[in-house]
Amino acid sequence: MSERRYAIIAGDGIGVEVTREALAVVRAACAVEGASPVLDELPYGAEHFLSTGETLPAGSFDRFRTYDAVFMGAFGDPRVPDMRHARDILLGTRFALDLYANVRPIRCLDDRLCPLRDYRAEDIDMVVFRENTEGLYVGVGGILKKDTPDEIAIQEEVNTRKGVERIVRAAFEFAQADGRHRVIMADKSNAMRFGHDLWQRCFREIAAEYPALESGHYYIDALAMEMIRDPRRLDVVVTNNLFGDIITDLGASLQGGLGMAASANVHPGRTSMFEPVHGSAPDIAGRDLANPFGAMLTAALMLRHTGLAKAGERIEHAVLDAVRSGACTRDIGGTLGTRAAGDAVVRRLEGDRS
Ligand code: NAD
Ligand code: IPM
Ligand code: MN
Repeated sequence: MSERRYAIIAGDGIGVEVTREALAVVRAACAVEGASPVLDELPYGAEHFLSTGETLPAGSFDRFRTYDAVFMGAFGDPRVPDMRHARDILLGTRFALDLYANVRPIRCLDDRLCPLRDYRAEDIDMVVFRENTEGLYVGVGGILKKDTPDEIAIQEEVNTRKGVERIVRAAFEFAQADGRHRVIMADKSNAMRFGHDLWQRCFREIAAEYPALESGHYYIDALAMEMIRDPRRLDVVVTNNLFGDIITDLGASLQGGLGMAASANVHPGRTSMFEPVHGSAPDIAGRDLANPFGAMLTAALMLRHTGLAKAGERIEHAVLDAVRSGACTRDIGGTLGTRAAGDAVVRRLEGDRS
């Protein structure tokens, strides 16, 4: 089997710190499996943009397609207040590679990390399918009479039948393949009478194709409440781009915080992109405080997705063991820095070899 090739863009702030640790565990887990993937580190991010004026070179998306997958750390730098580079690199990749399914698992690894009084870790195990190529993220709109009292700003939400159908179908297909029972669609069709009406109709039609799976609907505000009132009722959730963004930060809190949350941006059969849910965290960047486990779990998703499932599983087990034995960063109750938490997971993986 030829070696896997991954493009790596660590990005900004803690993106650099957590990516370094994620790559170390990828190397260690793959070594146990006798694989040595190519990890091609590319320099794009705020620093590169500020020094060259370039966010991504021409031809980058074609180049990404030559890899088995792309891994990104995080973007965001106070010196680039309009986030132009992040729009080009992160949103650009999601759109250009048509990565329509943003799959964000919400799983709590230890009772200690569960913030809800009446629940335990095992009660929190859901997967959000966030539509990733449409909605309010398409950048359709404009500003009229800027900086005058009569200013008008329009930001359109785009929902297409093709786009809604494919993300809803992805959620049902996943539920079926993963032995899950229930798919919930969340929208705001009581107020958004056109776009979310389309979601309602597509969801009903596709749900009827999966009679063995339960299906249901929440308005997004009620879903947010349900996530903390009784997370056991939630299994697979499908929703639009913006709502999916918001509820997966809420979901991160159910896992112990943003440092624990992983995500995959997928178009089945094509080169996909993997990034932790968190951002560049300028408040803690450069201080060896960032939790690298979300990035490691993201790397595990990438390995699973690209045919290195055993190496991915090894990372997941090693992270679980580190969390449960308290070998972790402060945000989840440990005392270790980013590097030491990374080393703790690498050591566990190296133990797998002996
Ligand atoms: P953030 O996710 O960077 O941070 C939110 C809070 O969570 C901060 O207090 C931070 O310290 C903490 N946190 C995040 N990740 C952590 C980790 N791994 N370990 C420990 N603590 C962690 O969100 P923000 O502060 O709203 O945004 C900062 C910048 O990141 C902004 O420029 C934003 O646009 C950008 N952003 C980028 C991405 C991405 O690249 N995927 C995602 C979200 C936000
Ligand atoms: C995420 C982030 C991005 C998003 C930002 C940085 C544009 O919040 O990946 O969750 O909104 O999708
Ligand atoms: Mn987000």
